[in-house]
Amino acid sequence: MTSVTSLTDQVHQHLATALTATLPEADADPLLRRSDRADFQANGILALAKKAKANPRDLATQVVANVVTGDVIKDIEVSGPGFLNVTITDRAITRNLAERYADDTDRLGVPLAEHPGTTVIDYAQPNVAKEMHVGHLRSAVIGDALVQLLEFTGESVVRRHHIGDWGTQFGMLIQYLDEHPGELDHADAEISGEEAMSNLDRLYKAARKLFDSDEEFKTRARRRVVDLQAGEPQTLAAWQKFVDESKIYFFSVFEKLDMEIRDADIVGESGYNDMLDETCRLLEESGVATISNGALCVFFDEIKGPDGNPTPLIVRKSDGGYGYAATDLSAIRDRVFNLKATNLLYVVDVRQSLHFKMVFETAKRAGWLNDDVTAYQLAFGTILGKDGKPFKTREGVSVKLEDLLDEAVQRATAVVRDKAGKVGLTEQEIVDNGRDVGIGAVKYADLSTSAVRDYKFDLDQMVSLSGDTSVYLQYAYARIQSILRKAGEARPSARPELELAPAERALGLHLDQFSEVVAEAAKEYAPHKLTAYLYQLASTLTTFYDQCHVLSPDNAPEVVENRLFLVDLTARTLQRGMALLGIRTPDKL
Ligand code: ARG
Repeated sequence: MTSVTSLTDQVHQHLATALTATLPEADADPLLRRSDRADFQANGILALAKKAKANPRDLATQVVANVVTGDVIKDIEVSGPGFLNVTITDRAITRNLAERYADDTDRLGVPLAEHPGTTVIDYAQPNVAKEMHVGHLRSAVIGDALVQLLEFTGESVVRRHHIGDWGTQFGMLIQYLDEHPGELDHADAEISGEEAMSNLDRLYKAARKLFDSDEEFKTRARRRVVDLQAGEPQTLAAWQKFVDESKIYFFSVFEKLDMEIRDADIVGESGYNDMLDETCRLLEESGVATISNGALCVFFDEIKGPDGNPTPLIVRKSDGGYGYAATDLSAIRDRVFNLKATNLLYVVDVRQSLHFKMVFETAKRAGWLNDDVTAYQLAFGTILGKDGKPFKTREGVSVKLEDLLDEAVQRATAVVRDKAGKVGLTEQEIVDNGRDVGIGAVKYADLSTSAVRDYKFDLDQMVSLSGDTSVYLQYAYARIQSILRKAGEARPSARPELELAPAERALGLHLDQFSEVVAEAAKEYAPHKLTAYLYQLASTLTTFYDQCHVLSPDNAPEVVENRLFLVDLTARTLQRGMALLGIRTPDKL
């Protein structure tokens, strides 16, 4: 693997050296950033001058005198009150990009993080025997992007799908199945996700009806919960049927989402059963939790209910039952002590923030979380309909996830078909691209706004060819592939001896920033920073096309080669970045 030092880092090093030469005892950051005036601007002199009680412009002038120019830095000058404007050589740009291009590990020279840790990511966690909703979509899409991003930086990632597969509602379902055997038996025939969900839905409704109307059934159902918790084999076997049927459905949705979810990573609430007693014992013995009205509770000074009384986290109910909190606290112990995690990340709806706040605080008091092991909820906002209200169908019921995905694919296919003639797509390619564009559109819309914000689910906007959409990026990628196909004999090849046009420099400088953006997006759990970068990359490419023709017969052969190299690296960067977001880039579109 070749790890390439970015241009920003190279300039930074040059300036830091010059700063030390000017003021040996100062340990100052040149505060470098990209700039419109020059390639980079450094603002760090101002603070340094203040500290040294020197005139900032004078100090800046001295630093400039100490900067080595020629190879990387072409020009450096003082501007304003003491800023430094830095222009770098065309040669340094091309040479840097050529190193990225030569990296054959598909990393584009992006270095690994210096101190990677182990992050457990809790995402894509639907509930057994229930339909998935748009909230589950967000968790899956954001979580999957974070898995890819963090793994790309070298982090060890453990995926956990904390599905809702336990609780009192299963007593009712199991009892019903027991009294109506065979309802979930289809051992020989493979069934679709849709069929599985409709089976579960039918059973759920029937069981509910009986539960609400028949007191004796209710009693039998309640007894069944006790059997389930005691691990009675027949009851467990029936429970397993519900889990298996649900998984058929989950996997069909994840597949539609073009997302790899592994069975081994599905560790639902039931997976922590054996730990619940001990979790409670540890909390009680350490005094973190206390018995209040028969329930085991943790209290927080600042968390109060509407009546002004403190709202506790209930770890064990007064009837001895365990809930969501006990499971999550046990999961923390498992993740910290067995999986040896250094970071716990939860991609969960903002509406569960209070729960996580209390759970994390409890775990801290118990010493399970501390400065070395931290937990964070990436609390995402709600998906809204076009009208700005929570997403519902016209009839007011919540939208089925698959319907929504199908519609996205349909719309996208229409868009692809529209242009198919020009590119010469086969029917199969239209279908495949329609899927990649439609699913990409849904993911991109989700990832291109900061996760904490609500966003409007607007399919028209999502599959639009212009603007900040995945289709726009996918077209940018496909257009480059088409140019590369048309190039004939000419091959992409870096030519560091060539002078670059302004649009070539702009593209090159932006390409160089990929590694910094990836590192930042991973560190801050902010995939939207990567989407913003990629969108800007595609826009910079559009400007480049306007100003620089790649295959023009007027170009000298080496100019053609260098431009092919630039666009090919752009395509690879687009593809790599999109892949980190879980979005495909078809070759022909
Ligand atoms: N199954 C839950 C839901 O649908 C989400 C689980 C989130 N993860 C967790 N560790 N509590 O709301």
